[in-house]
Amino acid sequence: MKGVILAGGLGTRLFPLTKVTNKHLLPVYDKPMIFYPIQTLINAGIRDIMIVTGGGNAGDFLRLLGNGADFGLAHINYTYQQGEGGIADALKLAEYWAAGERICVVLGDNIIEKNIVRAVEAYRQQKSGARILLKEVPDPERFGVPVLDGDRVVRIEEKPQRPASRYAVTGIYLFDERVFEIARELRPSARGELEITDVNNAYIDRGELAWDVLDGWWTDAGTFESLRRATNLVAETGANKLD
Ligand code: G1P
Repeated sequence: MKGVILAGGLGTRLFPLTKVTNKHLLPVYDKPMIFYPIQTLINAGIRDIMIVTGGGNAGDFLRLLGNGADFGLAHINYTYQQGEGGIADALKLAEYWAAGERICVVLGDNIIEKNIVRAVEAYRQQKSGARILLKEVPDPERFGVPVLDGDRVVRIEEKPQRPASRYAVTGIYLFDERVFEIARELRPSARGELEITDVNNAYIDRGELAWDVLDGWWTDAGTFESLRRATNLVAETGANKLD
């Protein structure tokens, strides 16, 4: 299984912090934000990693990470997203490199207290399809939200005004090789982007979306409030714990 970190976008919700740098290079307590999703993949045994970035400061990722020696990696792959096409559009850039293997996608601003080992192991046993990680949150309307029927996810709604559950769909996704075929068929949403939620809904339509609940705290870091929260959580408890 290969790992893809999506670290593009203009980070407009964090302006002016993102005026001269990429959101994923901003500090979260004592490390640049991008360090956390890299560690999430490595802790799950995924060491073949591609970073999809974009914007005016993409070169800084190379300066910061190089070939991943700080993480004990021999190599990191990079690709560049032109413009602002959304998460699923950024993902398309990994098709050539994924070369038919399964992928674990992590959004570059998603930080976790523990690890995703259990979900990745379960996905290795899963014959095909996708697997998502859910987490109960106080503000589900900020995220993709699953509509549950018993223990089945029947649909995911992107930032619904009236959330159907207390869960957020976290930005950690496990996909088989058909994700790229699905991404090619997507149409832009009302905000003009190809939405990862539509990819997951396509897997639901095929009856091939499994899910787990993530252990430990989870947060995004793409707004002032969530960035502050992320920094506090990391400072108080540490992130990317192995057990
Ligand atoms: C994205 C996804 C959303 C998901 C979230 C997790 O939202 O669209 O479904 O719950 O990441 O961080 P964004 O923060 O890009 O608006």
